[in-house]
Amino acid sequence: MSISLTNEPVTEIKANVVVVGCFQDEAFSADAQAVDAATRGVLGRLQESGEITGKHGELTTLLAPAGIAASQVVVLGLGRRDKLDQGAVFRAVAAAAKSIAAKSRPVVAWYLPTAANVPVLATGICAAMVGCQGQDLYRAELKLNPIAEMKWRGDDTQSLETGVILGECINLARELVNRPSSDIYPESFAERAREIAGREGLDVEIWDKERLSAERCGSLLAVAQGSVRPPRMVILRYTGSTADAPTIALVGKGVTFDSGGLSLKPSDSMKTMKCDMAGAATVLAVMQAVARLKLPVNVIGLAGLVENMIGGNAFKLGDVLRARNGKTIEVLNTDAEGRLVLADVLDVAVERKADCIIDLATLTGACVVALGNDVAGLMTNDQTLCDKVAAAAKTCGEPVWQLPMFPDYAEQIKSNVADIKNTGDGRWGGAITAAKFLEEFVQDKPWVHIDIAGPAFLESAKSWIDAGATGAFVRTLVELLAAASRNTTTAS
Ligand code: BES
Ligand code: MN
Ligand code: ZN
Repeated sequence: MSISLTNEPVTEIKANVVVVGCFQDEAFSADAQAVDAATRGVLGRLQESGEITGKHGELTTLLAPAGIAASQVVVLGLGRRDKLDQGAVFRAVAAAAKSIAAKSRPVVAWYLPTAANVPVLATGICAAMVGCQGQDLYRAELKLNPIAEMKWRGDDTQSLETGVILGECINLARELVNRPSSDIYPESFAERAREIAGREGLDVEIWDKERLSAERCGSLLAVAQGSVRPPRMVILRYTGSTADAPTIALVGKGVTFDSGGLSLKPSDSMKTMKCDMAGAATVLAVMQAVARLKLPVNVIGLAGLVENMIGGNAFKLGDVLRARNGKTIEVLNTDAEGRLVLADVLDVAVERKADCIIDLATLTGACVVALGNDVAGLMTNDQTLCDKVAAAAKTCGEPVWQLPMFPDYAEQIKSNVADIKNTGDGRWGGAITAAKFLEEFVQDKPWVHIDIAGPAFLESAKSWIDAGATGAFVRTLVELLAAASRNTTTAS
């Protein structure tokens, strides 16, 4: 995919499609007016008749318009200008790109208006890259034809670069999640991480099974036990700031397939469980983005990688595990495996002197019951950090909602035989009891848990993104780290 900036007149640019943005209840932009003039008033008449309203996500196509060099013009509604934010730009542009990609249209030129306070160019480029990329990894006939060449009206090379980096990183996360467990298993994920680290100049450490044993990761290892695929832990480090600057740890759940183990999932719940490493994929994608953007921050990215399977060696109900931090865990459901994996990874993050920790995990169906498919749950032991995560998510238009962490919930993970057990009492409040379990492993570090079980993976397509992996929260975390770096530089 080649992406460049242009200032060629909209009427003269050679492309299969020219996209022109317009706001609702507002006069046409200069570029839209140029199209209107060249077509002898077609746009104006369509607006007059109510065909073009500028409503958010509206697409109006002019085929083979006279007076225009491109083969077609798509007028893209951006909604009302006062409602425009990154989320609105992302969804509108991605929807246009997805619609254009339904057929092979290799060259697309984008003429979007600029807006105060919204980075339309960077967000638009990122969105178009995500929108035109589908889950076609294994299909001969593509459902979406990625746009080979994009030209964007403007001259801000910084925004161009940012947009391209974010688009590539989101699509990396999506690719890793969309690949089935026959392709992506702990070792192959770790190898991808090693390659990326080498290319981007990140420090990388990969713990194999022996090292994990030597490091006393008894909780993670128990989950891995039933699989013929050996586990891995990936530890990436990006040092963009000085040694005395704080270190932020990003921790991802990387269950490359979750069968449920002996507490086996029914087929219907199991069929999408290749997505259970989305947290780890997000962490890897964010590390790649941070390195490419050269953000002045210190970040460590950790992923706990296992496959949760059945078999003669699988861990069992009633087993008592010893986690890396010394706590013992009674296993009452082998399908509550994500928290067992994260327990040991969080402890490594603490040991590596993280000043704060953010974990991402497709952790509970209960979170999807609580918030629906499109909203991630936030749970925390530190309101200040949680507010920063929520603010970054709001900036990017990725919906989140905080769930309470009242001490009473912790009663539910008390065990009769061990320090804690890996399930609550029954299903109710399951997203929170899972988070209460994780809290046992972060010591006193400020920590936010993001349960992405809903938004990480779509069972059906949306207008702006194909079904399958979404790359959710790559943008939010990059925004959070960028905001953190802005604050440290202004403070010092
Ligand atoms: N990976 C699942 C959670 C999940 C559900 C992710 C739906 C994505 C979509 C997790 O490991 C799991 O199975 N959780 C159990 C916990 C329960 C056994 C306490 C659940 O949510 O049912
Ligand atoms: Mn599970
Ligand atoms: Zn799981």
